[in-house]
Amino acid sequence: MKKNIVIFGHTGQLGRSLIKNFENNFKLNKNFTILKRRFNLQNITKIPKNSVIINCAAYTNVDQSEVNKDEANLINNLLVKETSLVCRKKNCLLIHFSSDYVFGGNKRGYTETDKLKPINYYGYTKLLGEKAIKETSCNHIIFRVSWLYSIYGTNFIKKIFQKIINNEKIMVVNDQYGSPTSCNLISKVLNKIIFDKNWYNKKKLYHLSSMGRTNWYNIAKFVIKYSKKKIKKNSSTLEATNSKKFKTIAKRPKNSYLISKKIQNELNHKINNWRYYMKDVLDELILVNEKKNR
Ligand SMILES: NC(=O)c1ccc[n+]([C@@H]2O[C@H](COP(=O)([O-])OP(=O)(O)OC[C@H]3O[C@@H](n4cnc5c(N)ncnc54)[C@H](OP(=O)(O)O)[C@@H]3O)[C@@H](O)[C@H]2O)c1
Repeated sequence: MKKNIVIFGHTGQLGRSLIKNFENNFKLNKNFTILKRRFNLQNITKIPKNSVIINCAAYTNVDQSEVNKDEANLINNLLVKETSLVCRKKNCLLIHFSSDYVFGGNKRGYTETDKLKPINYYGYTKLLGEKAIKETSCNHIIFRVSWLYSIYGTNFIKKIFQKIINNEKIMVVNDQYGSPTSCNLISKVLNKIIFDKNWYNKKKLYHLSSMGRTNWYNIAKFVIKYSKKKIKKNSSTLEATNSKKFKTIAKRPKNSYLISKKIQNELNHKINNWRYYMKDVLDELILVNEKKNR
């Protein structure tokens, strides 16, 4: 019998990336049924027994989380707790995503056991979500990811790419360090986990990002250099700024580089430098742009 994979947050960038990847995977289609569900109490209660639950839903607007605290707490914490209670009762595996923003930013790089100290409300609710899952003690795998990007939704890489297309002036902070996580990397890792039953009864937390500590300015520089080689737009300019000049409602950690050695070792999956994954997404964006202009 086919096993159910319930995806919450299927309309978000990670949800859409996972679904695209899963739908293209013949082996997965043969063995699993993908159920896309909106993340709410009713659907959480209806989770089928023995399924794999992939929770991509979250309140991800970091600045608005400072304003809409109740909603951020509901999605990132309270509903996550409900999900983990149902998962325990129905013997499911919960795969959940947390954030680099659970850290305070005073270290160059963070491992899974480092001290947690969120400095904004979004990070605080993501930490509460992690704690709720651990306390419930359902089977779970939590991945802390950072600076997510894909061809879908809104993300930094797409914004820079669009500015190149529009020949705009680009200003980017150069004093926040971390590493971008491609949704394609997450898809590859989940693909391995889903096919290995040994992962179904674990209670684990991992960092999952690409190799190489960088900052937003350097990422923008790379996006511009790579894209300009392939598209005939080269009048956009890049200028560095810093967090003091570029004010936002929520504070961001200065450093949130996730060291992802643990998942590499335990899953035996090599993780490459961030440029490796970004090239693939840029190639896709360039292709979509070419088709638009034909
Ligand atoms: N984006 C990043 O840079 C980043 C960094 C670190 C960690 N993460 C984590 O990675 C995971 C995936 O992020 P993402 O970038 O794919 O997020 P996203 O694109 O913002 O998608 C969020 C998903 O959650 C759903 N959602 C939001 N508010 C909801 C509500 N009130 N009720 C029901 N569903 C709601 C959205 O549904 P609608 O489309 O209907 O709104 C959407 O499907 C999240 O756990 C996030 O915290 C993301």
